[in-house]
Amino acid sequence: MEKAVLGFKFWVLRTVGVKPLILVFCEPIIGKECRVTKKHQDQRFDPSPTAIKEVGMKKTVSWSAGVDQLRQTLAGDGAFLVACDKNGRGNPMTIGWGEVGFIWGRPVFTVLVRRSRYTYGALLFADTFTVNIPTPGRLNKELLFCGTKSGRDLDKAASCGIALVEGKRVETPIIADCSLHYECRIILRKQLDGEDFSAPEILERYYADDDHHMLVIGEILASYADQ
Ligand SMILES: Cc1cc2nc3c(=O)[nH]c(=O)nc-3n(C[C@H](O)[C@H](O)[C@H](O)COP(=O)(O)O)c2cc1C
Repeated sequence: MEKAVLGFKFWVLRTVGVKPLILVFCEPIIGKECRVTKKHQDQRFDPSPTAIKEVGMKKTVSWSAGVDQLRQTLAGDGAFLVACDKNGRGNPMTIGWGEVGFIWGRPVFTVLVRRSRYTYGALLFADTFTVNIPTPGRLNKELLFCGTKSGRDLDKAASCGIALVEGKRVETPIIADCSLHYECRIILRKQLDGEDFSAPEILERYYADDDHHMLVIGEILASYADQ
């Protein structure tokens, strides 16, 4: 999943004056990378089995097939959103809000992530994310852990024993122990602020601390479930 990368960052400094001088600095970058750039731009949801690698015993399902399970888990203990941080580490975060829909002629998964979350920064950097839905009533302890601890402080997946494994279409990992998965390519990020709301009671109830959500809409490139 994670690839070692070696690259160089170039800094260009141009002095002003009678004799302009251009200085170029070069800084090596070594790290792990699970980000994919442009790779997903031409991909669309394709449920044909040939387009998709096998992940264990999971089978491809229509993007809309799991909506009941999704609604039930989101209303219960939550689901896992996974995004890779800039070091390429998959960080699972518990979400209670999210929705599946069909806009711009494609199936999409929308998640709402507050600015204070470590995941927020990861989603600004990443091209893709996955949403992993446990069977209702399962992985409760892990959901609580990933919903109360931050990837800023520790490797959450390792700390709570969640196995992140390679998905089918995107490079962000999935959580194999979940029973329903969505792999998404980010197509829109929209930071909300107070002026966007026409319902003051929502602002008062959810954003008294100004920690507004960012809406992140991902095109669903693959959705699959346990057999
Ligand atoms: C059941 C549950 C649902 C949650 N839903 C969301 C959500 O939809 N959006 C959000 O920004 N935070 C949500 N949270 C809070 C984050 O999961 C929590 O702040 C987490 O520690 C952030 O992790 P991170 O800093 O590694 O991103 C939820 C927490 C729980 C327990």
